Amino acid sequence: GVKIVTIGGGSSYTPELMEGFIKRYDELPIREIWLVDIEDGKEKMEIVGAMAQRMWDASPYDVKVHMTLDRREALPGADFVTTQFRVGLLNARIKDERIPFSYGMLGQETNGAGGIFKAFRTIPVILGVVEDMKELCPDAWLINFTNPSGMVTEAVMKYGKWDKVIGLCNVPVSAMMKEPETIGKTLDQLTYKFAGLNHFHWHRVYDENGKEVTQDIIDAMYEGKDSGIPVNIHKVPFFKEQLDAMKMLPCGYHRYYYRQQEMLAHGLEEYSDPEVGTRGQQVKQTEAELFELYKDPNLDHKPEQLAKRGGAHYSDAACETIASIYSNANRHIVVTTKNNGAVPDLPADCAVEVSAYIGATGAKAIAFGELQPAEKGWLQCMKNMEHCVEAAAVTGDYGMALQAFILNPQIPSGEKAKQVLDELLLAHKKYLPQF
Ligand code: NAD
Ligand code: G6P
Ligand code: MN
Repeated sequence: GVKIVTIGGGSSYTPELMEGFIKRYDELPIREIWLVDIEDGKEKMEIVGAMAQRMWDASPYDVKVHMTLDRREALPGADFVTTQFRVGLLNARIKDERIPFSYGMLGQETNGAGGIFKAFRTIPVILGVVEDMKELCPDAWLINFTNPSGMVTEAVMKYGKWDKVIGLCNVPVSAMMKEPETIGKTLDQLTYKFAGLNHFHWHRVYDENGKEVTQDIIDAMYEGKDSGIPVNIHKVPFFKEQLDAMKMLPCGYHRYYYRQQEMLAHGLEEYSDPEVGTRGQQVKQTEAELFELYKDPNLDHKPEQLAKRGGAHYSDAACETIASIYSNANRHIVVTTKNNGAVPDLPADCAVEVSAYIGATGAKAIAFGELQPAEKGWLQCMKNMEHCVEAAAVTGDYGMALQAFILNPQIPSGEKAKQVLDELLLAHKKYLPQF
């Protein structure tokens, strides 16, 4: 039987993960699941852990859900370690959003100054997880979901020197769930090819005869058909002429870059309205509602309300990846993995988010080919920005943090960039021992 360890077990997404495992039990026979959290998340873990056990008890399978605050107790003998933690919990996210907005800059969980600080807080913790894995479960796979998922996964490979890692995101899953029906097709009739970075990828689509149908999906998008953009992203439309020239489908997050002014204006409007607040403030409400539901001793299945979270359906990526590794299925899944030439515009040893075949040896990235100048330019800028963020996260070097800030397209350079950096460093001091 398979042993799974989930770091950040108190997450409200845990029932989604359980549902995914229950659905795939025939392919992935799980013996035990260990949820790991910290003192600050103990209460959440106890509530959602009991709920997780009820879900297994209501299934035909005999699986025990263990809970611990000591990851070293959980890790020995693990086959898969999944990470879904949030250093500093939602209060830290709200600071990542509100402080940049207070300077007139985007405040967002994975983009701009907030995304950079989430990386600063998270990378030292994940590197600690990797050190424990080297000692306690050296053959395990690390399946990372913790944001910013691309940078966190790259740091594991580059600074943790751990190659058995796969980074995941629900954005490609949602696109593949919704887009086919916009052109009257089903997913199994289509071939998808994704390439780029986490929350910064593009994709192309082909039909069963090999004919490219990307433009048909672009056209359908402008007829108002649901193309699966996560609920947390405000839907300012892309410029149609731009997509026609691009000949690819951007991901939902690209609108922070292609419609920067409008997205910033919308974010500032919500931030300034005490009745609305930032996304993190909104999520706090949803999380409280979810945990009230999870407390119900009769609830033994994932509630509908979880769809209010932007990460809905993430278990399809996580559980599918784990099952495909375990059964050597070589299925197509979009993952963050080592480039190895799949995106020739970027170094071979960096992390990219790409279409890959997932089997017993991990991810085999599918070649995408060279990008056009505009996308190539963005990609190289964003990847090098990520390199600066990771270097600063590991060393605590202030100058490198400034390099990352000034390279980031959401942060105008100048005195204000330094001020927002300083204020964020102070606000998150407790979680930034490296600085
Ligand atoms: P959350 O605030 O519920 O945090 C999950 C748990 O992590 C909490 O119970 C918290 O106590 C725990 N935690 C914090 N520090 C820890 C540590 N050092 N060790 C172990 N546990 C720790 O977060 P959430 O909203 O459920 O999201 C969890 C993570 O998943 C976040 O990083 C979020 O950004 C990410 N996420 C990723 C995607 C994706 O597409 N990759 C989608 C949704 C969420
Ligand atoms: C999805 C993303 C995640 C993201 C999350 C936010 O869009 O793939 O990586 O951070 O949802 O959701 P939330 O409900 O927490 O705002
Ligand atoms: Mn994501």
